Amino acid sequence: MMRQRLVAGNWKMFGNSARNQLLLEGLASQVATIGKLSCAVCVPFPYLYQARSVLAGSGVGWGAQNVSQQPKGAFTGEVSVSMLADFGCRYVIVGHSERRKLFHEDDQLVAAKAKAVLEQKMTPIVCIGESLDERERGVTEGVVSRQLGCVIKEIGIDGLLRSVVAYEPVWAIGTGKTATPEQAQRVHAYLRKLMSEQDAGVARHVTMLYGGSVKAANAAALFAMEDIDGGLIGGASLDLNEFMSICKAAVR
Ligand code: PGA
Repeated sequence: MMRQRLVAGNWKMFGNSARNQLLLEGLASQVATIGKLSCAVCVPFPYLYQARSVLAGSGVGWGAQNVSQQPKGAFTGEVSVSMLADFGCRYVIVGHSERRKLFHEDDQLVAAKAKAVLEQKMTPIVCIGESLDERERGVTEGVVSRQLGCVIKEIGIDGLLRSVVAYEPVWAIGTGKTATPEQAQRVHAYLRKLMSEQDAGVARHVTMLYGGSVKAANAAALFAMEDIDGGLIGGASLDLNEFMSICKAAVR
């Protein structure tokens, strides 16, 4: 997969059938006006069926926010990659900081999930990012390189070509405190440099998103940065107008 402009919504644990229907129909009807952009929404599991029903054929992709690393079996409450593929998911978010922190997912587990997603020919959106404490201690580069390194070890550097990397500084998620375009660009450039130490061709082609309090008002400045190919959008993806504006800001 070549580097692409992409905006993906992360609905988190929000929504209900009636509200989703309006949002999904709005997206389906408006996205065609945007131009050359990939756009997707990652919805809670119970709404995948609804997302597929409304979005099929619209150009808007859909996906999930988590998945089991296990292929199948007696794992009560878990959802497998083949089930997500069965629902036509194109994307699966793995390693979101909320899952790392609140559900104790470690680098190895995140890497195993990314691999499982690739095996079903879907695209993992691999989230990495430092906490406020880590940034203040000056260890941001060490943290993101460890997180990315673990994934590369599992899926191979070539696996990144079929993945999306989302840099999401934890201190910017849901806080209204966006990283400045320069702060975000610096980490994106660092990550691309790390990749290029293994394979320069891969580094050039990997799609890299920024996430963390992206809004219509700050999206264009972030997406203008050389190594930022789009965004992973939480809160603002629940508002049709806001999300559409963010999508438009990503078109180059
Ligand atoms: P936010 O969330 O846009 O609400 O900050 C981003 C994310 O968690 O992916």
